Amino acid sequence: GRVIVTIDGVAASGKSSVASGVARALGVPYVSSGLLYRAATLLALEAGVPLDEAPALLTHLHAHPLRLEALSAGNRVWCGKRELTDDLHSSRVDGGVSRVAALPEVRAWVDAQLRALPAPFVAEGRDMGTHVFPQADAKFYLTASPRVRAERRARERPEDVPAIEAALIERDHRDRAQSAPAPDARLIDTGTLPLDGVIGAVLAALPA
Ligand code: ADP
Ligand code: CDP
Repeated sequence: GRVIVTIDGVAASGKSSVASGVARALGVPYVSSGLLYRAATLLALEAGVPLDEAPALLTHLHAHPLRLEALSAGNRVWCGKRELTDDLHSSRVDGGVSRVAALPEVRAWVDAQLRALPAPFVAEGRDMGTHVFPQADAKFYLTASPRVRAERRARERPEDVPAIEAALIERDHRDRAQSAPAPDARLIDTGTLPLDGVIGAVLAALPA
């Protein structure tokens, strides 16, 4: 059927890796909502639009429409014919994205794009189960200690573990308004499980 599974959680808790694995097992796409916030941030940085100026930012986004391509193998973001995907995981974008994501106008712009996607899919982010897809068939919320998350992310960034840990804690703090678990979400600590174990736990908890 038209099933929606949501996987929310804190920064670098494993959301996209787990969502991708679950989506592949189910044979459906996954949707990485954070990529749209990251892409909006990249466009703002490149254009020199201040990250907290909602009207200027929205004008720029409407003039440069973004498209999220939600494939099961990996999500891509396009701005016209230019693919932004490889530029979205820099420390510069990491450092600005929570300010852009705090703007209600930007959140409404992202929400509309996500709600237009055809189910079934697995959606991951911060507020997929609480706000964007409250009607989801199954909801999960991933956690892990800041140190574990920083050690994992350090394998994907040039900075060292303490610098990454500090940045993750700062981002969790800025994201806390939109990053509470849904009351009906199942909490999973990914710090003590291998990736396959987390994917298996999600699949085992899905309604038949
Ligand atoms: P998020 O989408 O929450 O930022 P990612 O899926 O990008 O998280 O995961 C961050 C890193 O941690 C990735 O390199 C991923 O392979 C690794 N990872 C995720 N979950 C686990 C796990 N349970 N055990 C070990 N490594 C994991
Ligand atoms: O992978 P990681 O958790 O580091 O980041 P992400 O999921 O790509 O999200 C990047 C940022 O986008 C977050 O820090 C939030 O500021 C914002 N975000 C959000 O506000 N709501 C979402 N549903 C997804 C992301």
